[in-house]
Amino acid sequence: MGAGVLGFDPALLRSIAERVGTPVYVYSANLIRAQYHALHDALHDVPHRICYSVKANGNVGVLKVLKALGAGADIVSVGELRRALAAGFDAASIVFSGVGKTGAELEEAIRAGVGFLNIESPAELDAVIAAAHKLKKRASLGIRVNPDVATETHPYTKTGEKTAKFGVPYDEVVRVAQRIATEPLFGLRGLAMHLGSQITDVEPYHRGTVKLLELVTALRASGITTIEALDVGGGLGVRYHNEKAPTPQAFAEAVAPAVKQAGLALLCEPGRYLVANAGVLVTKVLYRKHAGGKEFVVVDAGMTDFVRPSHYNAHHEILPLKDGNRPEELVNVVGPICESGDFLALDRKLPGVEPGEYLAVLGTGAYGFVMSSTYNQRPRPPEVLVDGDRYYIARQRETLDDLLRGEILEPSTWYRA
Ligand code: LLP
Repeated sequence: MGAGVLGFDPALLRSIAERVGTPVYVYSANLIRAQYHALHDALHDVPHRICYSVKANGNVGVLKVLKALGAGADIVSVGELRRALAAGFDAASIVFSGVGKTGAELEEAIRAGVGFLNIESPAELDAVIAAAHKLKKRASLGIRVNPDVATETHPYTKTGEKTAKFGVPYDEVVRVAQRIATEPLFGLRGLAMHLGSQITDVEPYHRGTVKLLELVTALRASGITTIEALDVGGGLGVRYHNEKAPTPQAFAEAVAPAVKQAGLALLCEPGRYLVANAGVLVTKVLYRKHAGGKEFVVVDAGMTDFVRPSHYNAHHEILPLKDGNRPEELVNVVGPICESGDFLALDRKLPGVEPGEYLAVLGTGAYGFVMSSTYNQRPRPPEVLVDGDRYYIARQRETLDDLLRGEILEPSTWYRA
């Protein structure tokens, strides 16, 4: 399997690595567009908006590609709001979820005119009411419902079961909605759910949608008729290795007919589906090492650059960018960080790679750079966006000086303890 098969030209990746250095994230605008179109086309039958989940990859260049396609944005913080606005998203096309929005974040979202400010608890509604009254500004609200629907995914990325911290408990939704309805500054525009991430079966989407529609019916019966849209989450799984990723058509069939029949618009908030396989992380082999009966390939990217293998034990394919048939061997691909959990792959079959050559870690367009850190005082890697036969450095590599920024080297102000 050559890297070109997956939509990247190995020669281009090599030349980017030469120019920009490694490790480096490289994203393909065309692969993102193809994913967007596939989902958009599958949903053609129902009025819909795809609100790209900025947390998956917040690079402004990537955001601009999605904005140009007509996407809205799904955000979880004011940092993401600023990023989405910087990329040109219209605030009205933004959905803001999150269990711990601060008062300042709520105010900024209301001031900006976010389209769906999703309430996640009765206590948060109090804070939203206070913020809107303070600003004397109308807020468009949604309720993120905890649908209590189980999914098969990594325990860290399940969000839709009733024991999760997310969303208003199902049986409290009507009460919260009624409270919103009594507030003159608010309109309840939508109900939302999010089941989890990397979901490979569409049946839970169907179950969750049916449950949300039951709530819509109950709300209508109680006189609340302002709901325009149902937001059926992100979470669509992708194929990293041998997973069976659902097709956009299967997803559409699971959710769209019922939403359409209820006379509602459909929102969805995919992150990973749109960008995961549109990104690779290019890293250089630094050393080969044999120890304790294991073959190690030491590369210049570690868990600080890409944490998914170490954090979730996630499998990401790794391909050498150099041609040639070389005998395969079983290796551990490890980074330079001082942790034994710092690996990109364990017991992986790779062709015999040599120091100095480049490897591409695939499926790293989502939850890659955004989860990077500077642990061990390592500057975070640059991000490059390829569009057709051109590319640009969408984010520069952090510098060692950046790492000292904000730190007080010689204290001049001391506070009395
Ligand atoms: N909407 C909400 C409210 C979310 O919490 C998430 C993801 C999404 C949308 C987008 O989900 P997606 O389509 O990307 O699955 N760091 C983990 C994934 C955490 C996802 C958290 N929420 C990983 O690397 O697998």
